[in-house]
Amino acid sequence: MNTNSKRSKTCIGHVRRKYILAGTFLSSFSLLFYACQEQQQLDFAQYKSNGKDLYVVHCQNCHGEKGEGLAELAPPLTDTLFMKANAARLACIIKNGMSGEIEINNTIYNEKMPAFPDLMPIDIAQLRVYISNAFGNQQGMYTYEQVINDLANCSDPQTMNDNDYPPHQSQPAPSR
Ligand code: HEC
Repeated sequence: MNTNSKRSKTCIGHVRRKYILAGTFLSSFSLLFYACQEQQQLDFAQYKSNGKDLYVVHCQNCHGEKGEGLAELAPPLTDTLFMKANAARLACIIKNGMSGEIEINNTIYNEKMPAFPDLMPIDIAQLRVYISNAFGNQQGMYTYEQVINDLANCSDPQTMNDNDYPPHQSQPAPSR
């Protein structure tokens, strides 16, 4: 009886220690997880806010404060099929500009968007995050690495004709 209760005590002690160890492991893991998540949220907020500043300086003249566009001269950047279908090309469009006929929300646009050769990849990443998370768009975070990857696959100049739409299904997924 005595030995038995001794044994069960040690056993319980052992089990407890196991739980404590597992608990410590889990809680440090979840701390790490939340720290990472918090960092991602901070990055996202920072990209979006810097992107907005860049947008006001470089894009707003044509695309409007609310992404509404400029009559038939510049298309809207609001939540459209085009923005979603061309998510992987937005970085290239920003860098190299764009020409050729496109249809957005049942309107045909055929003007020329200028290139922005002076924008650095980080600027493009921030602009990219801003425009695809403003004006009703909700594409979420788009990392600097994804933008670098997209920029390496730009065809130059960015002409978008019917053959290109929807484009680039074969584009490799960003390596992450
Ligand atoms: C001088 C006017 C002008 C400026 C400045 C300009 N764009 Fe454009 N943008 C256009 C035009 C015009 C098109 C459509 C070109 C076509 O018809 O092929 C376009 C197309 C686009 C498209 C793809 C079509 C769409 O509506 O989704 C995106 C995205 C875009 N621009 C983003 C930007 C961003 C970001 C900036 C700032 C870095 C910018 N543009 C600056 C005129 C402009």
